[in-house]
Amino acid sequence: MTATGTGSANAKVLLFGEHSVVFGKPAIALGLHAGVTATARSESPCALRVPNWNLDLSRNDDHPVARALDALLSSLGIDDIACEVDAHIPAGAGLGSSAALAVAVARAALAAHNRADNNDVAAAAMASERVFHGNPSGLDHTVAMTGGLLRFVRGNPPHVQQLGTGAPFSLVVAQVAAGASTAVQVSEFARRIAGLGATGSRLLDCFEQIVDQAIPALERADLGELGLLFDANHGLLAGLGMSTAALDVACQKARNAGAYGAKLTGAGGGGCVIALADADSAEVICDTLRTCSISSFIVHHAAPAGL
Ligand code: MEV
Repeated sequence: MTATGTGSANAKVLLFGEHSVVFGKPAIALGLHAGVTATARSESPCALRVPNWNLDLSRNDDHPVARALDALLSSLGIDDIACEVDAHIPAGAGLGSSAALAVAVARAALAAHNRADNNDVAAAAMASERVFHGNPSGLDHTVAMTGGLLRFVRGNPPHVQQLGTGAPFSLVVAQVAAGASTAVQVSEFARRIAGLGATGSRLLDCFEQIVDQAIPALERADLGELGLLFDANHGLLAGLGMSTAALDVACQKARNAGAYGAKLTGAGGGGCVIALADADSAEVICDTLRTCSISSFIVHHAAPAGL
């Protein structure tokens, strides 16, 4: 008899520490409410359909998503799943779409087999992410699983801490261009860090210091200081070749329209920028970017009660 199961997962934006997190430095990420939902049926042959991303694949197809599905199902020890996915985020834009897909499919596949185990989901998502990234830190699938605002340090298991904020803040997420390959970006970052020798290590320490300073600034909801840290983090990433002219221009437009600070988010080389704002200026920044034909949306992060 065919059994069904569903699973969902969050997309994410990286506030601080992308790339340096691959080297064991801390990062701060925010899960988005939007993400993906998967419905799995226990039937053969294994297949995956994501209509919003124009994907209709079988497990053995010569396609990176099919190879990721194969890795994921092998990790789960499941070989009879057909999955239909509803995606509410763009693919390949630096918003963690591949990790959200992996987590949602793993959850749905397990549910169709009356199983539910976060360790199995994390291991399967990591196997899937390795197909795309080679050396993923594990941050993307961790946020896809937990949501929220969190500090993450890679490890087995990773160190994950939910963070508080003293007041609400808003982010404008602007999709500037198609994203570049995360694997290519990660290996280019590593090449540049290695080429800089001791200076490369000191630059990695700078990323860490930005994260360390951002946590109390988030607790105080000091948007002015956080904006400076956004700009500094973007500057470091740009100096290490992770930005593009279009990402830099979008950051500057957002700052000129009133953002406290702006930076690329995710692997860079294209994809999205995020601009830090309060609720009023977020609307203005979003309208300004849309006027420049940059598709944008606003994320409001509410401060948890009691903080
Ligand atoms: C990609 O969303 C984040 C990177 O730091 C890669 C990773 O953490 O695996 C660029």
